[in-house]
Amino acid sequence: MMLQVPQVLTGDQVADLRALIDAAPWVDGNVTSGFQAALAKNNQQLPQAGEAARAAGATILAALERHPLFVSAALPHRVLPPLFNRYGEGQGFGDHIDNAIRRDPNTGASLRTDLSATLFLSEPEDYDGGELVVDDLYGSHVVKLAAGDMILYPASSLHHVTPITRGTRTASVFWIQSLVRDDAKRALLLDMDVAIQRVSRTAGPADAAVLSLTGTYHNLLRMWAEV
Ligand code: NI
Repeated sequence: MMLQVPQVLTGDQVADLRALIDAAPWVDGNVTSGFQAALAKNNQQLPQAGEAARAAGATILAALERHPLFVSAALPHRVLPPLFNRYGEGQGFGDHIDNAIRRDPNTGASLRTDLSATLFLSEPEDYDGGELVVDDLYGSHVVKLAAGDMILYPASSLHHVTPITRGTRTASVFWIQSLVRDDAKRALLLDMDVAIQRVSRTAGPADAAVLSLTGTYHNLLRMWAEV
């Protein structure tokens, strides 16, 4: 399932975050790549241990915790500290699949990447090219979102970033280990949660059907969740 998560950050938050990270030193993006990805990747990255990346990452993680659609769709168990990357003219990232396991640099814990996330930090009119293209059974999906908006997609997807032909594209990328590993089960739970919210608004939260469906949602989550 691919899902747009709108307005993870407000315009003011994006501006503050960009001022912070744009002023920090950037390095070649291949410091965090696996062997295969390193062949395809051509971008810049903010050093993960640096103060700017840590502060900006904390802002994003706090915003995600408060975003109901993100929580409902991703059912996050662990979220890796966000990385920040930047593509200038001529830079891009060829086809690849993200590493299955990544290490949390803060805790040393291994995390299974169920979901990949890209949070756009440049406005689409500020650059040409730089589309995120994600392939799935239904074809190729071209993604270029407003600054502050995010796309969630299965980390098992083949994807690439098309070369930049004008301007600069800045984004944050990170990975999520979900409570529910299977993408299809997670999609069903999201559909069910959205439907329950809808019925609850008209029938009221104490309605017998709403109570029953909410119970069923939690019992499915109990059956499928790994913690
Ligand atoms: Ni990737």
